[in-house]
Amino acid sequence: MVASRSLALFPTRIYSHQWRGAAWQQFNSRLLNECRQFRDDDAGGQRWSQKNYYGGYTSYHSLCRMQELSPTFAQLEKKLRRHAVAFAAELEWDLASKPLVMTDCWINIMPQGVHHSGHIHPLSAVSGTYYVRTPRGSSGLKFEDPRLDRFMAAPPRRADCKLENRVWHTESAAAGKFVLFESWLRHEVPANSIHSERVSISFNYAW
Ligand code: NI
Repeated sequence: MVASRSLALFPTRIYSHQWRGAAWQQFNSRLLNECRQFRDDDAGGQRWSQKNYYGGYTSYHSLCRMQELSPTFAQLEKKLRRHAVAFAAELEWDLASKPLVMTDCWINIMPQGVHHSGHIHPLSAVSGTYYVRTPRGSSGLKFEDPRLDRFMAAPPRRADCKLENRVWHTESAAAGKFVLFESWLRHEVPANSIHSERVSISFNYAW
């Protein structure tokens, strides 16, 4: 007699962690002040954002290695490092000869109405976002099943299906939280409907 079995293969992992406490709060308010200060001083980035990140500000094109520009961001990089390593271990990546290194780190400020449509992060291995300021009701980070374009005649999933069977997942955004994912995973930030700035710091790791 053959026993039936069902395997769950090719998982898509999303790693998150929440920092709390007085020391974190102090650190986070320094980050927030710097995000706003860099935005105010970055005329080139503001111009670029006007064309490519309408209504908001991103330093993606101008100050894209914040971990090298600011000791506070360098500290963030240091705090994130062990989590990136833990995520790589969970994925069982063989990184013996080439460690994961943060290559990019940039600021995103989204006032009301600003969105960031679906995209991936080419040329990177791990990407992520740390949330600095998330007014109540801020949009989360919406991930898409990477197999979505192959489903053809696949029936829709039940509305109450298990998390691992869903084709979209929105990870909530909360100040002090960060999310790590593999850079090929398509994601978007739906429009911020709150009349207040949502501030985040995104980053990439390569190997
Ligand atoms: Ni992204």
